This record gives sequence, structure tokens and C-alpha cells, in this order.
Amino acid sequence: MAKELIIWSEGYSVGINEIDNQHKKLIGLINKLYRVYLDKNTDELSGIIDEIKDYTLYHFSTEEKYFRLNKYPAEKEHIALHEEFITEFNQLIIEFKKTPTVLILKITTFLQRWLTKHILKEDKKYLTYLK
Ligand SMILES: [Fe+2]
Repeated sequence: MAKELIIWSEGYSVGINEIDNQHKKLIGLINKLYRVYLDKNTDELSGIIDEIKDYTLYHFSTEEKYFRLNKYPAEKEHIALHEEFITEFNQLIIEFKKTPTVLILKITTFLQRWLTKHILKEDKKYLTYLK
């Protein structure tokens, strides 16, 4: 049985290799979180969540660098979405630390939904602006 929560396909491509590769890496980390959850390796969850957070911050800074370089017109709105994500994710991490078994599925689902929707709806908008 497959344990992949998200499978990357060309449909997720935003036309920039560096960003596509970072999205693939993020998808890989979310799949890893899900796998570890299914395998009940509970003590590994917190480390992976931290890894996802660090990598996401790094990834956002890469995207935002491209926005600046290309004078992307929707830069502000897009950065606001990143900030919104960080706030929400931090809140879930605080709750996770209190009751990990209750929160783990909520965090995993949140990450899955947010990332796939964000790539397909928001990141796709910069496709024609960035190079
Ligand atoms: Fe983004």
C-alpha cells in the first residue's frame, strides 16, 4: 500500500527549476511525516515538523527573492500569504507540543492542503512573471 500523501506531477510545475525542486523536497518531507505517523514512530514526529518549518522558511525566502528580482506585481499579497501560513503553522506546533497524538493528523492534513492549494492557486500566478 502506498504511503504517499502527495505525489508531485508536472501539473505542479511553476516553470522555475529551483522552485520546483524545493516544492518536491517539501512534498517529500510531508510524505515522510505521514509515513512516520503511520508507522507510529511518535518520537520522530517533532523533529520532522521542525525540519518542515525550517525548510519552508528557506523556501519562502527563495520565492521572495525571485519576486524582488522580477518586480513581481503581486509580491505583497503573496508574501502576506506566506506570513499567514507561518502564523497558523506556529499555532499548530504549539498545540502539537501539548497533545501530539491529537494534533499530528491535523498538522499533516493542514500541510498537505495548504501546500497543494498554494502551489496550484497562488504560485501558478507568477508563472509568466518570473524567470
Ligand atoms: Fe508561495
